[in-house]
Amino acid sequence: MAGGSAAAAPERETWTSSTGFILAAVGSAVGLGNIWRFPGVAYESGGGAFLIPYLVALLTAGIPILFLDYAVGHRYRGAAPLSYRRMARPAEALGWFQIVLSFVIAVYYAAVIAWSLSYFVFAFDLRWGEDTAAFFVGEYLQVGEPGISTTLVSGVAVPLVLVWAAVLVIIALGVTKGVQRVNIIFIPLLVLAFGGLVVRALTLPGAADGLNALFTPDWAALADPAVWIAAYSQIFFSLSIAFGIMVTYASYQRRRANMTSSGLVVAFANSSFEILAGIGVFATLGFLAHQQATTIDQLEGLSGPILSFVTFPAVISEMPGGAVFGAVFFGALVLAGFTSIISILLGVAASVQEKFGLTHRTAAVTVCVVCSVISIGLFSTTSGLIALDTVDQWANNVGIVVSAIAMTVLIVWVFRTAPVLRAHLNRVSTFRVGRVWVVLVGGLAPVVLTTMLVQRVRTLVTEGYEGYPAWYLLVFGWGTIGLVAVGALVLTLIPWRGRDDAGFRAWPELEEEQR
Ligand code: ALA
Repeated sequence: MAGGSAAAAPERETWTSSTGFILAAVGSAVGLGNIWRFPGVAYESGGGAFLIPYLVALLTAGIPILFLDYAVGHRYRGAAPLSYRRMARPAEALGWFQIVLSFVIAVYYAAVIAWSLSYFVFAFDLRWGEDTAAFFVGEYLQVGEPGISTTLVSGVAVPLVLVWAAVLVIIALGVTKGVQRVNIIFIPLLVLAFGGLVVRALTLPGAADGLNALFTPDWAALADPAVWIAAYSQIFFSLSIAFGIMVTYASYQRRRANMTSSGLVVAFANSSFEILAGIGVFATLGFLAHQQATTIDQLEGLSGPILSFVTFPAVISEMPGGAVFGAVFFGALVLAGFTSIISILLGVAASVQEKFGLTHRTAAVTVCVVCSVISIGLFSTTSGLIALDTVDQWANNVGIVVSAIAMTVLIVWVFRTAPVLRAHLNRVSTFRVGRVWVVLVGGLAPVVLTTMLVQRVRTLVTEGYEGYPAWYLLVFGWGTIGLVAVGALVLTLIPWRGRDDAGFRAWPELEEEQR
């Protein structure tokens, strides 16, 4: 029987099929990162030339680290802290670093879903009016100076409460009844909706100019280390790797399951969706430039939240049938974001459940309530947008990269578990990973990532970010990383109260472990 020799392991819920697992993993990967972030990052980072660092990052770090996440979760059958603890006891801290980072990401990620939900409703009567920037920043978010505001903006707080309530229900329902079911419905819906949107965008006048702007390479950008770090960060965020999510998802996969082939499907589905989103968004921007008798490079607001919530609504208003287009676009953002946030929160809830010996439901409710209170308190106030932009910048370009470096170095060089994980993947999968995988994960990835991280940190320290005050970056930027590190340490030091893992035996048994 599958998994028979691991009799001491606690019984674990599983996805009901490989399709269920793949849909959930695609649902986690395809998210705001694909629609909201990728098109702007690609455009700002060299357009067509960005595809080179992007593909290099996908092949040299994205897929190898996705396999690493899968191997750890599938072999050690726990959310990140428990899996790493079973791999090597001190490695539990790495798991908590990833989970606290996930917690931070979830807190602001929910806010962007809430904005999308509002804009889904606004689309029906194009409520953003003529001046979409003034509407987004002024009327909707009521943005003030960078600082810490306690003035709640009800237009954001209400959809945010709804998002958190839905997340809570789905997480509490568990892996098969909650997460898997949502993905089985939402992912085909998302593909249909977004596919229709792209087809419509491509038929707009000026679409070709938009595609030219996105895909015309600026080769000089390849010499800029910031472009490379943007590519690697984009891949990590987008594939949901190196922050504990895929470890957790893989831990719910049946023991006899083809892990690497599923991983390839997920990775290529995610990148295809990302490039499709780039095409859809830039074809639409081409239309805007055409309407304004200008060129794309003269348009403003082509990156970050402004692209989706200021520039896009402006295009939608000018488009025949814009209300439907807008509703589908923002509806797709909600669907994509929702299937990702539940993966982030499932990882956090499962970690708390396992560490503190709680029931799944108690852990789900506790985590979602704590997370939602912080999320609403921080991001539905008049200082929400600037806080979100800062926390997102540090969590992605510093936090996830630090986590990926720590993970690869610890697994390969400190605990020397790479041969076991490689043998595990090869025993259960049809697509076999060779030694080159270990070289990529243990050599190339940490070297490239460390070089880029040093560069990025130096820029953030010397140049700051977006002209925000230094004290503010210290609190919301560096403070985020400090919080994640301290949180990880504290959670590791708390004695393990859940079911004792001492009797756990990994399956299949491998010769490498008897060294
Ligand atoms: N992978 C998720 C995204 O791309 C987190 O948004």
